[in-house]
Amino acid sequence: MILPIVAYGDPVLRKKGDEIDEDYPNLDKLIENMFETMYDAHGVGLAAPQVGLPIRLFIVDAAPFAEGEDADEECADFKRVFINPVIFEESGEEWEFEEGCLSIPNIREEVSRKSVVKIEYYDENWDLYEEELDGILARIVQHEYDHIEGKLFTDRISPLRRTLLQGRLLDITKGNVDVAYKMKFPKSKKR
Ligand code: NI
Repeated sequence: MILPIVAYGDPVLRKKGDEIDEDYPNLDKLIENMFETMYDAHGVGLAAPQVGLPIRLFIVDAAPFAEGEDADEECADFKRVFINPVIFEESGEEWEFEEGCLSIPNIREEVSRKSVVKIEYYDENWDLYEEELDGILARIVQHEYDHIEGKLFTDRISPLRRTLLQGRLLDITKGNVDVAYKMKFPKSKKR
């Protein structure tokens, strides 16, 4: 089932997510729905707050980055579920990359982040993993991890850029935006 993606301005995107345990209701179904929702919107990552749930869960499928000119083969089979993840180390050079977000449609901005992360997380079978990621994979995970911390990529751009975007961000909150997937806008007047 495709779930509506929560738009910029909704308070759920600003909550620090709670950890979940194995008794979380219908977790398998939720994960399945999140993948369906992400693929429908052509995203490479989706965090639970983006479907209205302030919990520490996000999914990633980096496959689109394994195609095209700057193809990165590592991305081809990087499909993962991250439950209760902890980024316990970030290192390497800061690098800029143009990020977008399914909750902030039609806006892309250069964001600077460190290039390497070490992360511990449970997968959908509650097996515990520790992984070191770099490049685009680290970037996707850092972006999604921000979501479960209540942060958005627009928090990481310069104050000037943010000021320039203010009008467009408000339009997104109100639902005045062209988007091809199902969304939930906090201040939409449309029914
Ligand atoms: Ni996002």
